[in-house]
Amino acid sequence: MTRETILALLRQNPEGYTSGEAMSRELGISRAAVSKAVSGLRQEGYEIEAVTNRGYRLISGPDRLSRGEILPWVHVEHVGRILECFPVIDSTNNYLKREAQHLSDGTVVVANEQTGGRGRLGRTFQSPPDTGIYLSALLRPDLPPVKALNLTAFVAVAICEGIETATGLSPQIKWTNDIVLNRKKVCGILTEMSIEGESGALQHIITGIGINVNQKEGDFPEDIREIAGSLAMAAGKPVSRGRLTAEIINALDEMYAAWLSGGGDYLERYRERCLTVGQPVKLLRANGSVEPAQALAIDDNFGLVVRHPDGRMETITSGEVSVRGLWGYV
Ligand code: BTN
Repeated sequence: MTRETILALLRQNPEGYTSGEAMSRELGISRAAVSKAVSGLRQEGYEIEAVTNRGYRLISGPDRLSRGEILPWVHVEHVGRILECFPVIDSTNNYLKREAQHLSDGTVVVANEQTGGRGRLGRTFQSPPDTGIYLSALLRPDLPPVKALNLTAFVAVAICEGIETATGLSPQIKWTNDIVLNRKKVCGILTEMSIEGESGALQHIITGIGINVNQKEGDFPEDIREIAGSLAMAAGKPVSRGRLTAEIINALDEMYAAWLSGGGDYLERYRERCLTVGQPVKLLRANGSVEPAQALAIDDNFGLVVRHPDGRMETITSGEVSVRGLWGYV
């Protein structure tokens, strides 16, 4: 905790020096404890200049997913008030599932690496260390499960907005909920619900977000290289994962409040970002059939309205059908 607080104090004064004495007074600890915390931070990879009679100045920090790197940028009411960070974990969704009964509503967990990252439809989600963000939030809305089915669409909008705030990039949404930049998938969402068997009541929702942040093209396995991209590839430079994580959490918090109170204008915001509409698409049905269609609109329940070649209209709801572009992923 002392290290985190010292880091926060140094960040408050990025251009100037903060004296060891001022920090020891403010925190009610000895000068030796301040100096020990600074040494600890240096060992963690922070570059901290020390000048006699002036104090300490933070020059640079490692791109780490630690509370110290994330919390200075977080300003939330609910989602993310409790934040846990892990260097490595099997899966942030699994962790919340295991621990749900001991954890508060709105808890967010972030990992630097996942050894058993999971994607939709039982797929694996590649989660290498030091390049991505793997984040899950535990939510306990007092709602019937059917009302929660649109949450992932809201989460998709929040992620786009968090990315935009942190990086200036403007991601789009490939229906239903893949986040894309330059026609490549940079983020996936896996939302899981727990429902009590007896009553059918919603116990909790875990929404898991995996973002490719600083991967280079060659870092992706060959089988997904065509469709996967990263924020750094789109930005042409590395992206700070701490700041980005914080902006994602801020956006999730704002979104969740709006979602609970009826949705605000998130449907409009989703429509503005959805690049599937207006495109010729292929519909991949669960039975393996592939049909061409034209994507026309997003309806009020986030369903995709399509027209078949014979003129027949259909509204596809998430989960039922996968959608691909005519010539590729988007
Ligand atoms: C998909 O695109 O299929 C969804 C991928 C979701 C990955 C995230 S990473 C954080 C959370 N933990 C997991 O094991 N999966 C989700």
